[in-house]
Amino acid sequence: MTPRHLTLTIVMILFAWGFTTAGTLAQQSTSSPDKGELPAIVHDWLSAPHSDYGALAFTYWNKDGSVPPDCAACHSQPGFLDYLGADESQPGVIDHAAAINAPIGCASCHNEAAQALDSVAFPSGASVGGLDASAVCTVCHSGRQSGEDVDSAATGIDADTVSADLQFINIHYAVAAAVMGGAEVRGGYHYPGKDYAGRFAHVPSASSCTACHDPHSTQVDPDGCLSCHRGVDTVRDIRTQHDDFDGDGDISGGIHEEIAGLHKQLEAAIRTYAAQSIGAPIAYAPGQYPYFFADADGDGRIGPDEGGYPNRYQSWTPRLLRAAYNYQMVKKDPGGFAHNPRYLLQLLHDSLEDLGQVIDVDLRGRPRP
Ligand code: HEC
Ligand code: HEC
Ligand code: HEC
Ligand code: HEC
Ligand code: HEC
Repeated sequence: MTPRHLTLTIVMILFAWGFTTAGTLAQQSTSSPDKGELPAIVHDWLSAPHSDYGALAFTYWNKDGSVPPDCAACHSQPGFLDYLGADESQPGVIDHAAAINAPIGCASCHNEAAQALDSVAFPSGASVGGLDASAVCTVCHSGRQSGEDVDSAATGIDADTVSADLQFINIHYAVAAAVMGGAEVRGGYHYPGKDYAGRFAHVPSASSCTACHDPHSTQVDPDGCLSCHRGVDTVRDIRTQHDDFDGDGDISGGIHEEIAGLHKQLEAAIRTYAAQSIGAPIAYAPGQYPYFFADADGDGRIGPDEGGYPNRYQSWTPRLLRAAYNYQMVKKDPGGFAHNPRYLLQLLHDSLEDLGQVIDVDLRGRPRP
């Protein structure tokens, strides 16, 4: 952090401290926060991605000088305050472009509008209430697209016909809330005639963002988990469902392993379908927008001369788009195994099954949860 950033940070912290002691936080807590806690909270926040001035999530628009309204709610503190209506503007809408280099500081979550926020609308239009302290997290971690967007883009096009009207639909990043809400918020693409798991209720003591994540460091303390989930070393090893969902004959790992196994199989099936059925090979490039590119040499990887926006994949069929959308949803929630494992396994299973209408996909011995 540069000296200028450090000064800014301290100013923001003092501002928020004035803010909280003056009102909202004191009202919300049964007792006023002990001033001794404050350095620890500030330290935690400074270690979190939310305070990272240098992150792409807060610097991507520096060349333009401001964060446009479409992006501001989640990528700039003043934009989030605008969304909440905490700046006296209309809640739920962004009125202005917002400041660059403005990460998510204390004032984002500690103001009256943020504390009063209890329900959040998802990109599908579904609204979820009763969110309490996790409502703020939900606003920014619910993604930007839904299964409905995939459905409407592909309406009226035969499942296996390439259409120039189709392009990749990207759910966006860190979509924990969309995964957690499951069928209720329709973040994934739902295949017709299938039932999908709703919100992952888990257990009352670990059923909300802030029950599992410290709101300041954003970290999950595994000790709280391992008191119930005994005999494992890390949260990724946790498992309560014992079917071999990915059919690899190994159920010794956590449920995370089953999701990762099916996810890998889906990537392979997407490539086979594009090469065999469309005749235009595709490959996925992690971290490179828009993720799916034409793979001219068919080696399954996007080499240095195959990336770049002009080489984005452009031979989409509805069947391919649906599978690729669900593939990306799973990819963009690294904590999905804890947020809603059943839902993700169902999306992966059904995407594989649907590609299997056209190419050879063996789902024998791979039960759908
Ligand atoms: C609903 C909230 C939301 C909106 C609206 C939103 N984003 Fe994001 N975006 C996120 C979150 C959350 C992340 C953090 C992902 C991470 O790094 O874990 C992110 C990350 C990013 C990143 C960094 C990706 C990386 O590789 O680190 C870019 C670039 C980005 N968004 C661009 C945009 C653009 C452009 C817009 C507007 C057109 C936009 N976002 C609108 C929530 C949002
Ligand atoms: C992403 C949202 C978010 C940010 C950013 C944030 N907080 Fe918090 N803070 C919370 C939530 C949520 C709680 C817990 C409230 C509850 O449980 O009802 C909390 C609780 C607190 C408490 C009460 C003591 C405690 O640990 O429960 C204090 C004091 C506090 N925050 C100060 C700060 C300060 C200072 C900053 C900036 C350095 C900050 N917060 C940044 C969300 C946030
Ligand atoms: C105003 C929007 C906003 C709010 C509110 C918000 N987040 Fe975030 N969150 C982001 C962005 C943007 C990033 C990525 C920051 C970066 O790349 O440095 C992020 C990153 C994270 C990460 C780390 C992801 C990674 O890739 O390592 C976690 C975990 C997280 N947030 C959890 C939470 C929780 C829990 C809350 C509520 C207490 C919350 N967030 C509230 C926008 C938000
Ligand atoms: C059952 C506990 C639990 C709940 C509830 C929960 N999370 Fe998580 N979350 C986790 C675990 C565990 C991880 C994975 C951390 C790891 O692998 O180290 C994770 C990962 C994440 C990540 C990705 C971090 C990264 O490294 O990229 C984000 C973002 C996130 N959670 C946000 C949220 C938000 C927002 C909510 C509420 C909608 C939420 N989580 C609810 C336990 C939970
Ligand atoms: C009070 C006991 C309890 C605590 C604490 C707890 N869990 Fe759980 N967990 C359960 C139960 C019970 C289930 C089975 C729920 C179900 O299938 O609906 C479960 C299921 C899970 C699953 C899904 C496993 C599978 O095979 O589908 C994961 C992942 C998980 N918990 C992670 C966590 C994490 C991470 C934490 C800590 C942040 C945590 N749990 C805290 C009791 C607990």
